[in-house]
Amino acid sequence: MEKTEPIQNHVPEEKILVLDFGGQYNQLIARRVREQNVYAEIRPYNRITVREIAQAGYRGIIFTGGPNSVYDEKSPHYDPTVLDLGIPVLGICYGCQLMAWMAGGQVKSAESGSEYGKTMLHVEDNPLFAGVPHTSSCWMSHTDYIAQPPAGFHISARTEKCPCAGMADEGRKLYGVQFHPEVTHTAYGVQMLKNFLFTVCGCTGNWNMEDFVQKKVAQYRKELAGKKVLCALSGGVDSAVAAVLMHRAIGDNLTCVFVDHGLLRKNEGDWVESIFRGQFGMNLIRANVQDRFLTKLAGVTEPERKRKIIGEEFIRVFEEEARKLGKVEVLVQGTIYPDVIESGAGDASTIKSHHNVGGLPEVMEFERIVEPLRDLFKDEVRKVGLELGIPEKLVYRQPFPGPGLAVRIIGDITREKLAVLREADAIFREELDQSPIKAQASQYFAVLTDTRSVGVMGDMRTYGYCVALRCVTTDDFMTVDWTHIPFEVLEKASSRITGEVPGVNRVVYDITSKPPATVEWE
Ligand code: XMP
Repeated sequence: MEKTEPIQNHVPEEKILVLDFGGQYNQLIARRVREQNVYAEIRPYNRITVREIAQAGYRGIIFTGGPNSVYDEKSPHYDPTVLDLGIPVLGICYGCQLMAWMAGGQVKSAESGSEYGKTMLHVEDNPLFAGVPHTSSCWMSHTDYIAQPPAGFHISARTEKCPCAGMADEGRKLYGVQFHPEVTHTAYGVQMLKNFLFTVCGCTGNWNMEDFVQKKVAQYRKELAGKKVLCALSGGVDSAVAAVLMHRAIGDNLTCVFVDHGLLRKNEGDWVESIFRGQFGMNLIRANVQDRFLTKLAGVTEPERKRKIIGEEFIRVFEEEARKLGKVEVLVQGTIYPDVIESGAGDASTIKSHHNVGGLPEVMEFERIVEPLRDLFKDEVRKVGLELGIPEKLVYRQPFPGPGLAVRIIGDITREKLAVLREADAIFREELDQSPIKAQASQYFAVLTDTRSVGVMGDMRTYGYCVALRCVTTDDFMTVDWTHIPFEVLEKASSRITGEVPGVNRVVYDITSKPPATVEWE
């Protein structure tokens, strides 16, 4: 395979470094900064040196929290000269203790000094706390505490149990807080972050999605002039936004390939085609390979085997279509920032294969792989999508697994079962879309179980399929709750499915959370 190199992304003028010491809220910190229209990037503490920080032109640094104790030898430490760069620093929780420790203060561990949860905070007047009342609530989660701030620092905040809930060296623009300003339980946390960004670091907040689109389009128009570019469309949000952005930059030099494997939901293939070819006038190849996938999947019941077959066949189809186009120089991928963080924490050399297009770069040769969205969180990708004129229905689309309905049909997959599931699923989604509970539901769909049961319709005994309905509420899909759908909605969905979908005589609702279950049944 030829060496592929992602194009360097446009570097925004104002940026904040979130130096990651392993805390659970690190992505949240970056998002909170970006909500203020200041670009923030997360880098693990052991993947960036003080020299690199100095050269990168950061306006400010935030040390994140972390689960360790600074006295533990194995805990993450950092070169103390970072405090001498003249770049403002805000240390949060472990980051605050680390800052104290690095600068020669005293950190102690005492069970009696530990605090977890909402706590009353008392602050003094200083630039970080401008506009913050002297007493307000904050969110604490720590065992160690700062017993003695380092020379040059003074105590700027207290709680009942914590003698140093905040410290500051205003002259050097170094601030630390023991609590978490990034979580909503800290009543004035956003105000504190704003103070840090705008007053302490001198940011202006000039990073926005409109600018992002304009700059990316100009960049790719220049860099990719005359190149043939390929993009795999899954119908999901990320690849759609990446493709439309690229189309705006290079027009007909972009070709999109949409593999219709026959495992999509009702009318979905036509819908995807109508948006990209109809609305945006893009070069779109729709590979109608439904039969090919069904043949490969015939008789396969094991979930992982299904996924593997679909993933491999997908690549094969994509390759065949690409080959027909002649030499293609560039591949566009819809990788987004959480993928980058998970797959190597911001290391530009890591190329993550698209979730739905498993491993394409491994088998194909391109001069370059371009990932226009690799700096963006999902909500930012959605904003870019809207900015580009992509319909809301697509921009706010629920996640849909790459292997499609294959993992929602338990047991072997047949044309008949696919038809049954498509209809049942469409009815359930239609009913939920009309209900106010939709606002609380993150993902909802039907599953065709491999159970058949006895029923009665008219005077006739039936032996039909059992359909399961699934609806979940979640922020991140790592853990989910089952949604408390009103009985009336379930009743209507059930009676419509059994009445309108031949072959189904029983409907059940899945009331399991994750864990112990997963969202998908397979
Ligand atoms: P699970 O079932 O793992 O699902 O709790 C969590 C979220 O991920 C989606 N999902 C997938 N998405 N390819 C995807 O692109 C897959 O193979 C896949 N499997 C699960 C699922 O729909 C849910 O939103």
